Amino acid sequence: ERRRLVLAIESSCDETAVAIIDADGNMLANQVSTQIDFHARFGGVVPEIASRKHVEVIVSVVDAALEDAAASLGLTGGAIAPSELAAVGVTQGPGLVGALVVGVAFAKGFAYAAGKPLVCVNHLEGHLFANLLAQPDLKPPFIFTLVSGGHTMLVHVKAWGDYEVLGETLDDAVGEAFDKVAKALGLGYPGGPIISKLAETGNPKAIDFPRALNSRGDYRFSLSGLKTAVTLYIEQETKAGRTIHLPDLAASFEAAVFDVQYKKAKNALHATGCKEYCIGGGVSANPHLREMMIKKLGRQGIRVTVPPLSACTDNAAMIAEVARRKFDRGEISPFDVDADPNMTL
Ligand code: KG4
Ligand code: ZN
Repeated sequence: ERRRLVLAIESSCDETAVAIIDADGNMLANQVSTQIDFHARFGGVVPEIASRKHVEVIVSVVDAALEDAAASLGLTGGAIAPSELAAVGVTQGPGLVGALVVGVAFAKGFAYAAGKPLVCVNHLEGHLFANLLAQPDLKPPFIFTLVSGGHTMLVHVKAWGDYEVLGETLDDAVGEAFDKVAKALGLGYPGGPIISKLAETGNPKAIDFPRALNSRGDYRFSLSGLKTAVTLYIEQETKAGRTIHLPDLAASFEAAVFDVQYKKAKNALHATGCKEYCIGGGVSANPHLREMMIKKLGRQGIRVTVPPLSACTDNAAMIAEVARRKFDRGEISPFDVDADPNMTL
């Protein structure tokens, strides 16, 4: 209680994650139990499997985090007791409803039994706050790009909690496009890490894939045309009996996606006059995207922050960072809250 430890739970998609953070933002535990292997054979996340797996592992992931926190604090005598926590944070949404419900129901019961307050967190705000784990002095106003498996948005962060979404995707999310392209090539799930590994040795100029909605002032995104172009290219090459050069395909696909991301971010920075930029979500783990933003925006005097690699894909550390700050401001949630699968920023 003295250390004001906040335990946070994340279960919006296919990772069951629990983190414990202290009042100063030190991460004392950061457990992630991934279900990827159970979903990979289906080529994507199966909601029903996700819910069941969360139920199976959530107690042991919380226990492991309580043990890690005790070890981080150098305490002998085993795990931190729930009564020693100051608050319990949890992802309320957006995400898969059945997956969210497991985390929210568990967090409510756990917090209530321990006599501790509950703090609900927006998963998208979590991806934004992942940047604070790398750069604690990041301060609004700035431009933020969220690129995950479920979301693609360009956001003007005017103040903490004051978000103007400048544009979103009209169809597929960026991570989803990576997953679909990898699937079309029979390369497995999730596609992001596979494509980015292949792209390392490829020529980004080999194939000229389309860049959608590429006019200035338009902050909307569209990925489905690109996905179709890649699929047609694969069909056409296969029909002609040519072998597809996977690294070139991967690098050219990435270039088409990231050129658009860069241009829209640059335009938004100019239009708003912001001098800071950050990025988040699973796709922000991509080394080419990180490097491109750091180098090209950096050259224009923009300070670029990227989250630690471990905090790009879903994790509870970023949820703990949001919960800690909300708890400090007294933003407590009632015990009758429900999971909200359609939450927006
Ligand atoms: O943020 P996240 O873990 O889950 C959501 O909230 O959606 O994002 C998962 C997405 C997947 O589509 C995955 O393919 C993508 O992030 N991803 C990547 C990379 N690592 C993960 N995309 C591109 N390059 C990567 N290195
Ligand atoms: Zn996410």
